[in-house]
Parts: sequence; C-alpha cells; structure tokens
Amino acid sequence: MSLQKRAKWKSKTGFIFAAIGSAAGLGNIWRFSYLCYRNGGGAFLLPYFIALIVVGIPLMILEFGIGHREKGSAPKSFYSISSKLEWIGWWPVVFVMFGIVVYYNVIISWCVNYFYHSFNLSWGADPGAFFDSFLNVTSGPASIGSISLPILGGLILVWIISWIIVFFGVQRGIERATKILIPSLFVLTIILAVWAATLPGAGDGLIQYLRPDFSSLADAGVWIDAFSQIFFTLSLGFGIMIVYASYLPEKTNIVGDSLKIAVGDSLFAFIAGIAVWGTLGYMANAQNVEISEVVSESVGLAFVTFPQAISLLPAFSVFFGLLFFAILTFAGISSAISIIEAFSSSLMDKFGFERKNVVPVVCAIGLLGGVVFTTGAGLYWLDIVDHYLTTYGLVAVGILECIVIGWYVKAENLRKYINSVSVSKIGKWWNYSVKIFIPALLLFFLLWSLGVELTEPYGGYAVSILVFIGVNWVVMTLVAAFVFSFLKWKKEAV
Ligand code: PHE
Repeated sequence: MSLQKRAKWKSKTGFIFAAIGSAAGLGNIWRFSYLCYRNGGGAFLLPYFIALIVVGIPLMILEFGIGHREKGSAPKSFYSISSKLEWIGWWPVVFVMFGIVVYYNVIISWCVNYFYHSFNLSWGADPGAFFDSFLNVTSGPASIGSISLPILGGLILVWIISWIIVFFGVQRGIERATKILIPSLFVLTIILAVWAATLPGAGDGLIQYLRPDFSSLADAGVWIDAFSQIFFTLSLGFGIMIVYASYLPEKTNIVGDSLKIAVGDSLFAFIAGIAVWGTLGYMANAQNVEISEVVSESVGLAFVTFPQAISLLPAFSVFFGLLFFAILTFAGISSAISIIEAFSSSLMDKFGFERKNVVPVVCAIGLLGGVVFTTGAGLYWLDIVDHYLTTYGLVAVGILECIVIGWYVKAENLRKYINSVSVSKIGKWWNYSVKIFIPALLLFFLLWSLGVELTEPYGGYAVSILVFIGVNWVVMTLVAAFVFSFLKWKKEAV
C-alpha cells in the first residue's frame, strides 16, 4: 500500500518528452562532438549506432520494464525484487545526484554565464585566456584557489529553476517543462545546424564529421568511448528511466517508446554535431588552418573553440552565441531535473516524505555539493569525478541490472511482463542479450578500462589525487547506498 498515490504522466507524449529531456543533454553536444572528433569523425558513428542497438535499446527496455512492473523508484523496485538488492537501486541515484549532477549543474552555470557574455562577445580575441580567468583556474586539483562568484551565482540560479520544476511534480512540473523545453531545443538546434552548415567552408568540417574511416574500428578505444557515451546519453544506469516508467499507466508501449526515445536522442546529437562541425569547418577555413588545429579538448570545444568561431562570424555573431548557449542551458536543465526527481522520489518512496519538503532539501544539498566545482580547482575535480563515475559507475550498474534481471528475476519473466503491457513486443533474443551478451560485453569493457587505468593514470594526474577524489567518490557513494538500504522503510510506503 502506498502512502501517497503514485504520480502519473498526463499523456504518453508527456512521458516521451520527459525521457528525451533526460537523455538529450550537455552530453549530446560537447561530449558527442568531441568523441566523434577524437575517434576519427565518421568512424565513431558506426560503433555508436552499434552500441545503441546492441546495448542501449535493450537496456532501456529493461529499465522501463523494471520500473513499470515494480511501480517504484530504483531503490523501491530493487527492494521489491529482493530486500537484499535494495542497494543496487540506491547506488546510481546517490552517485548521479551527488556525483554527476553536482558538477553537471556547474557546467550549466558556465552556459548561463556565457549566454550573458554573448551579448557583447566578452571573450574577446583570446577565448582560451578568458575561459581560464572566468574559472579562476589553478595549477592543479590539489590547489583549490577561490570560488568564482559568477559561477556560483549561475549555479544558484540553475538549482532554483530545477527546484521549481521538480517541486511542481510529475505532471505540472517535469511534464509541462519538458513539453516546452524539448520542442524548443529541437527547433533551435535545427536553426543553428542549418546556419552552421551554410557558412563558407562548413563542408570541410561536415566531411570530416561524416566520412567513415573504417580502419579505426579495430581500435578498442573507439568502442569503449561508444559504449560509455551510450550509457551517458541515454541516461542508463542512472536510475532515472526506472522511475520515469513507474509513472506510466498500466497499458503502455515500453518497447515502441524506447525506440522513439533512443532515436530522438541520437537524432538530437547528430543534428548538434552538424552545427558543431559546420562551425569548425568555417573557422578552420577563415583562419586558413587544418580542422585538427582548431579543435580543443572536450570542455574547451564549447567554451573556447566555439566562442572563437562565434567572434569570427561575418554577421549576427551575438545571436549565434545566444542561440548556442541557450540550447546548452535548455538541454542541461531538462536532464538535471530528471535525476533530482529520481533521487527525491526514492526518498519519498522509502520514508514517506512529502515532495514539497524533500525537493528543497535535496536541491540545497546539491547546491552545497557543487561549490567545490566553482573553485579554481573545479575544472580538474569535475574531470576526475566525471571520468570515474561515468566509466565505472554507470557501466557497473548496467552489469548488475543485467545479472539481477537475467538470472535472478529471469529475463523471460520480465520479457513476458513487458510483452503483456506493451503494444509492440520483444522477441526471445532479448533474454540472451540481457543474460549473457550485454553483461559479458560490459564486463570486458570495464576490465579493459581498468587495465588502461593501471598502466597510465587518468589524465596524467597524480595517482594519490585520483584515489583521493575519484576512487573515493565511487566508494563513498557505494557506502551511502548501503546505509540507505539498511534504514527502515516507513511501513505504509512499502
Ligand atoms: N543524458 C544526459 C546527457 O547526455 C546525462 C545526464 C542525465 C546528466 C541526467 C545528468 C542528469 O547530458
């Protein structure tokens, strides 16, 4: 018996918008474009689509299936499967809420600031130097430096907006906000892509983006990037899709909706890629250099390379800048709210708290947790936390989900359930993928990354720093997950 009646989406499209809102985020723009670049442009698209089909879509169906069948947040769903497994539900919601979102919202704050700076292109002739001074960046992760006030101000704003949206709940908050944000996001991104693709020289960038380079398929690194990107971009292993499916009505279309959401998300990344690569092509052309010389590393792409390109535009630079940073901000906020919802609803399920009390507290703690990323060491901390949580946390959760569903619940049981509630059905192949194929593939990927990690410490940082920040972050969130799962359920909430 549930203490409060479980929230429901108002409409099926509302659910699809909310799920695409979670999936389509900052990761689709800078992360996707940069990964394409690092892995030889068009060579990345093929492994990306293969990862989408063999891992992404089957896992999304699995997460929707769990949430819909158990009618609960991730912890409640795993608790219903077995009380011993509750921690598997807590771990992702804890580490995404207190690992990923705390820094993710800081990046949205950078976007808000850059939106403001677009009005007079304040990055001037040297956007790299501007970015460093904007961040107050220090010499390394161990020297904290000072808090950047504009970033902190932006961060407070982002948390307030997220709080308001989640505070109003599933229908009046998340569904309503994403119904506005997502269509606007698509329209704005298409405008930007068409604009960028028609700039002089854009074609060179697009060729590099789209031209397949099959030789790099033999490189394991390309596959590792493709798999981790699929997890990140589809919000899999976050505990989000589980809770979103728990708000669906009895009769749904889990299988068909998974396809729509995955395609919508990838399409968004693909179109954003056209905007980014077209602009890079234009910029290389305008400066008469190779594209490889204009691209900087992941974060730099959005905050250094792009501003530089914007300044070089022949006309309407300000408008182009506003458009780009508005897109990033919209995409970011519609993702951030999904994890705040996933964590808050876990607390509501377990302790019977009311939404209006939980959400402000969760947002206030999230804001405080983000302060470390607004300091001069923020960029380094962000890089390390992101690396450990996305490479190990998300994939580990994916493996655990497959093992629990494949072997404990039995894949066939969940498949039958999904087929009984879904308009479109899945075949028996799904059982084998969940039981053997996906977990084996992900395990291989995890061990491979671990092997690389042990031979060359990530990002050239000192091992002691990586252990202090990254490994600790993973361990602490795991401990917190166990603590949460040892606490008692409020009777009525179970
Ligand atoms: N799918 C999001 C993206 O690509 C990732 C994300 C989801 C991050 C939810 C935070 C919260 O950006």
